[in-house]
Amino acid sequence: MKVYLDNNATTALDPRVADVMLAQFLEGPTNASSQHVFGRRSRSRLDTAMEAIGSHLGTRLDQPNGARLIITSGGTESNHQALTGLTDQGSLVLSQIEHPSVLATVKWLEKRGRTLSWLETDQGGLVQLDQLETLISTDEHDIALVSLMAANNETGVIQPISQAAEICQKAGIPLHVDATQIVGKLPLNLEDSGISAVTFTAHKFHGPTGVGGLWLAPEVKVEPVFHGGEQQLETRPGTEPVALVVGMAEALKLAVDEMQDSTEHCGMLRDRLESGLLARHPELVVQGKIHDRLPGTSSISFLKTDRQSMLMALDMAGIACSSGSACSSGSSPPSHVLTAMNRPADEIESTLRFGVSKFSTIEEIEFAIDSISNAYNKLRIKPCVDN
Ligand SMILES: Cc1ncc(COP(=O)(O)O)c(C=O)c1O
Repeated sequence: MKVYLDNNATTALDPRVADVMLAQFLEGPTNASSQHVFGRRSRSRLDTAMEAIGSHLGTRLDQPNGARLIITSGGTESNHQALTGLTDQGSLVLSQIEHPSVLATVKWLEKRGRTLSWLETDQGGLVQLDQLETLISTDEHDIALVSLMAANNETGVIQPISQAAEICQKAGIPLHVDATQIVGKLPLNLEDSGISAVTFTAHKFHGPTGVGGLWLAPEVKVEPVFHGGEQQLETRPGTEPVALVVGMAEALKLAVDEMQDSTEHCGMLRDRLESGLLARHPELVVQGKIHDRLPGTSSISFLKTDRQSMLMALDMAGIACSSGSACSSGSSPPSHVLTAMNRPADEIESTLRFGVSKFSTIEEIEFAIDSISNAYNKLRIKPCVDN
C-alpha cells in the first residue's frame, strides 16, 4: 500500500478538475488577448472562471474600482508580488513562521534597504498580535506593510487574521495574507475583511500546479514583477493560462461545495492518526495542538529519533510525509517554525508533518499508524540498560 500524507506540500489533481481542464485544452487556441473569435471565446472562459473564483472567496470582481484578482504562477509568485509591489518604502512586519517564499523575499528586500520587524509566536505556534500593536504604537517604526499567513504549513495552526486585519485597518496599514494553506479548506470571506491582498495557489486544493492568484481589495495597487504585454492591466503581463485558470476555478468550486464534509472527514482522519499513535507511544509530542489547526494537518515529534531517518524509513514502508516545508525537504535544515516556537532541540530534530486530504481513507490511516509505529520502534534510541 502507498499512502500519501503530504497534502500540505501538494494535493493530487481531482479527476473532475482534470476532465474540465482537458476539455478546455482541447477547445482550441487560447490567447485571451486576441481579437478574433478564438480569442473572444478564451476571454469569456477566463472571465467566467475568474468571477467564479472571486465569488468562492466571497468577493465580487466585476465592480468598477472594486476588488481584483491577478493570476500568477502560484503562491511563491503571489507572495513575491505582494511583498515587493504593494509598497516601496517603509518597514515590513512579519511573523517568524512565514513560508520560505515570504522569508526569502523580505530578506532580499532587506538587502535593498527595507527594514523588517518580526512577530513571535507562543509555544503552540500562534502569532502574538500584542507585539503588532506595540510596534504600531511606537512611532520609530514607519510600518508600510504587515504580512501574515492565515494558517501555518507545518503545524496547521490557524492564525488570528481577522484580529490582525482589525489592528491594521485601525492604523491605516495594509495587510497581506498568505492564505495558501487555508483557501479551499476553510471558509474565507474577503469582502469587507479589512485585508488588502491575499495569496493562494490551486495545487493545495486539488487543482493544477503552476497557477495561483493574488487577490487585491478595492483601490489597492500593486507594481508588476514582470514587464511586457498589457495583460491583466499590465500588473502581470504574459498570455493567461486559460485552462489552468478554468481548472483552478473548478477545483475551488468543488472544494467549497464539499468543504463541510471534507473538514469533518480530514479532522476525523487526523485525530485518528494522532490518537492511534499516542495510544502506542504516549511520549510523542503533537505540535500546535493547543490551538485551532487546519483539519488535516498534524506535526508530530518522534522523540529520540532523527526526522530524516524516520522520513526515509516511512518512505520505504509506503508512507509519504514530510520533514518540514516541501521547499526545504531536499536538504531538511531544522524547521524555522519549530525554532520560532521555542521547542526543545530534541523535538525540532524529530518532527514530521502529515497532511491528509478528502481523498485519504481510514484504511490508509490505520496502515499508516502501524507503519509509523513500527518505524519509531526500530529507530528510537533505546535507553541503555545497566546490568
Ligand atoms: C503557506 C505557503 N505559502 C506559499 C507557498 C508556495 O506556493 P507555491 O508552491 O504555489 O509557489 C506554500 C507552498 O508550500 C505554502 O504552504
